[in-house]
Amino acid sequence: MPETPSASRPLSFSVDGTLTEIAFTDTPSCPEATVTVFDANTASRFSGGAARALRLAAGERAKQWESVSAILEECARSGMGRDGTLAGVGGGVVCDLTAFAASLYMRGCRLVLVPTTLLAMVDASLGGKTGIDFLGTKNLVGTFYPAHRILIAPSALEGLPDREYRSGLAEVIKTAIIGDPDLLQTLETRRDQVLAREPGIVREMIRRSLAVKGRIVSEDPRERGIRALLNLGHTFGHALESATGFDGWTHGEAVAWGMGRALRAGVRFGMTPPAFAERVRRLLSDYGYRLEAGVTYPQLAPSFGLDKKRAAGRTRLVIPCGAGDVRLREASPEDLAAALAER
Ligand code: GLY
Repeated sequence: MPETPSASRPLSFSVDGTLTEIAFTDTPSCPEATVTVFDANTASRFSGGAARALRLAAGERAKQWESVSAILEECARSGMGRDGTLAGVGGGVVCDLTAFAASLYMRGCRLVLVPTTLLAMVDASLGGKTGIDFLGTKNLVGTFYPAHRILIAPSALEGLPDREYRSGLAEVIKTAIIGDPDLLQTLETRRDQVLAREPGIVREMIRRSLAVKGRIVSEDPRERGIRALLNLGHTFGHALESATGFDGWTHGEAVAWGMGRALRAGVRFGMTPPAFAERVRRLLSDYGYRLEAGVTYPQLAPSFGLDKKRAAGRTRLVIPCGAGDVRLREASPEDLAAALAER
């Protein structure tokens, strides 16, 4: 997959009635905004030039109502009107929290996101899902509120810890399975360049992942149909994160493990050819993801019960059936238990 000349051209998607413009820049910079939200990591790197900056604690534990309340308070104290801009500079947590606050402040203000992790660049910043973890369940409370503008500087990834980078790569692998067979092949054949963060391949990966996600969220912004497919690996992954108290597994690691479990379920259902399951499991393992978590159905059952893809009380799994071919399938507690038990 050679880098195309278009790798840095802007993209735009109409999501839920909002035009989201995505611009690529060479160096990360602080956006023009009335209030800009950072976390402890991004404040030290990018807050120079912010008119009014709010710094949150870094990490998943900040994804609580108190953080949203602090952002709203900062907006109110700044005297910001509905024509003001709220910006978030950071990873998935900062993007989700800032977007949640933007959806609430004066019933909705202009939102700019500057994702600084791979996960936020390829997934969290686009599509309008906002939220907080609540009563120990990931993203239980939130709104749909697409950003008006997303600014992506792939060079921001240079200082990202390896584990964080791999966490985002799991979402890239997920997106490739869902909608870009060429990207899947590139991830297999150019692993060394991907892991070395070779700039050309990183830009191309981000752009292609956004193209797949943008297509899907434009068609189904409120997850009434096809968007649920973007949750490949997330039913098991979110349950693992909740059951382990968001400790010990990054989001991407949990999603990668969850994709491994979804492949097991797909083979049991006769939907996934065993050779494809082995191909993807090998890829995940070559990228260093753990495919065993040592958890059982009773440990994860409470979280399955709160999965947002459930319909009529039944858990629905996203099953990878081939490259670019993923489908939804209802799964009984027995199916889930069996997928968890298999090695
Ligand atoms: N992260 C999945 C979605 O945005 O729908």
